[in-house]
Amino acid sequence: MAKKKNLNVALFGTGFMGRTHSNAYLNVSKFFKTPYEPNMYMAVDPIGADAFAANWGWQNASTDWKAAVKNDEVDLVDICTPNHQHAPVAVAALEAGKHVACEKPLASTLDAAREMRDAAKKAKKSVTHVWFSYRGCPALALAHQMVKQGKIGRIFHVRAQYLQDWGGPDTPLLWRFRGKDAGSGAHGDLNAHIIDACRFVTGEEITEVCGAINETFIKERVIPEAELGNIKGGKVSKKAKKGKVTVDDAVLFLARLKGGAACSFEATRLATGRKNANCIEINGEKGSIRWDFEDMNLLWYYNNEDDDQRAGWQRIMCTSAGNHPYAHAWWPDAHIIGYEHGFVNLASTLLNNIAGKKVEVPAPDFEDAYQTQRVLEAAVLSAKNRCWVPMREVK
Ligand SMILES: NC(=O)c1ccc[n+]([C@@H]2O[C@H](COP(=O)([O-])OP(=O)(O)OC[C@H]3O[C@@H](n4cnc5c(N)ncnc54)[C@H](O)[C@@H]3O)[C@@H](O)[C@H]2O)c1
Repeated sequence: MAKKKNLNVALFGTGFMGRTHSNAYLNVSKFFKTPYEPNMYMAVDPIGADAFAANWGWQNASTDWKAAVKNDEVDLVDICTPNHQHAPVAVAALEAGKHVACEKPLASTLDAAREMRDAAKKAKKSVTHVWFSYRGCPALALAHQMVKQGKIGRIFHVRAQYLQDWGGPDTPLLWRFRGKDAGSGAHGDLNAHIIDACRFVTGEEITEVCGAINETFIKERVIPEAELGNIKGGKVSKKAKKGKVTVDDAVLFLARLKGGAACSFEATRLATGRKNANCIEINGEKGSIRWDFEDMNLLWYYNNEDDDQRAGWQRIMCTSAGNHPYAHAWWPDAHIIGYEHGFVNLASTLLNNIAGKKVEVPAPDFEDAYQTQRVLEAAVLSAKNRCWVPMREVK
């Protein structure tokens, strides 16, 4: 059997996403026919890179991202750092001629996102990829295909929510609550996903943001560096040193799609009891679809053309090989998949894109993710200035 060409990968950031991506590289060529074998060449992180590399099978470890990004052995730079580090690593990698995959949101600010988009345009031989990982869920990908096939018809409504509850007052001032590191809070973290889902599934762009609420309920949090010694009997001491929260806890906004649909988006880290409720419902003239990540293998479909006797929501288990995106790579029908498989599925798309091969479902590149970042910015402006923001005003 012909040996596959190796693609040397360097992973930047070895936290939560570093783990999901490592798992994806380990498995993608075992489940999919890929044009390359990803070779886990180097893990890069200022903290703990050695132990991470040893655990996941990365061949080298480094604490020096500036050197790693230019390493001649590296073909693909994969960025899993906090948001403010996406642009410096990505731009340096593109200038060094690498392919670049980056976590979402594309950047911590619109200016940084634009810089990345422009660097990608200049680097003509480089492929870029953004890990909007829910596109790798077969049910959401099927929703995209069904809308494209005309099953929903003219779209009237998009109702998108991403609800979590881990951001209560006892959660310390992690980088996710610091504006200079994250750019925004629930907005860039969660709304970015559902804006992407809306654009991906409907195939339509947002033309205006029609009002937004941007709320920081918890204004101060315990500084994590000072946290040790501040916890007594499982509770944070009242004397613990606190710092100011400089991002939102929740952002809600209304928007309109090019075809006229009225949309609502809601992202929060304070929806008590909702753990990872990433939900989208689309209502069209011919039918509706809805999806909730917490039941990620299911897509619900209402066919408005059914007669009244049979009308009702169909529960589609998206595990049928040949019928549902990515399902051919996994298990027999209804042997369901989970969170990590979305990343493996998207990794197969990334490798096919690098090889210039046809992909089952499109993954976003920097240009595509830049359009999502513009919508994030429009909602911030709308909340700040208490006004409607046409997208043409957000460059
Ligand atoms: N696709 C998704 O669903 C999803 C989910 C969670 C997080 N994310 C995104 O992934 C990114 C990382 O989030 P996380 O949850 O893995 O964070 P994390 O805090 O768990 O890990 C970040 C790691 O990056 C390291 N780091 C910081 N600067 C670096 C640099 N210049 N070079 C190399 N390493 C560096 C840190 O030391 C840390 O180990 C963020 O952009 C976040 O928005 C995406």
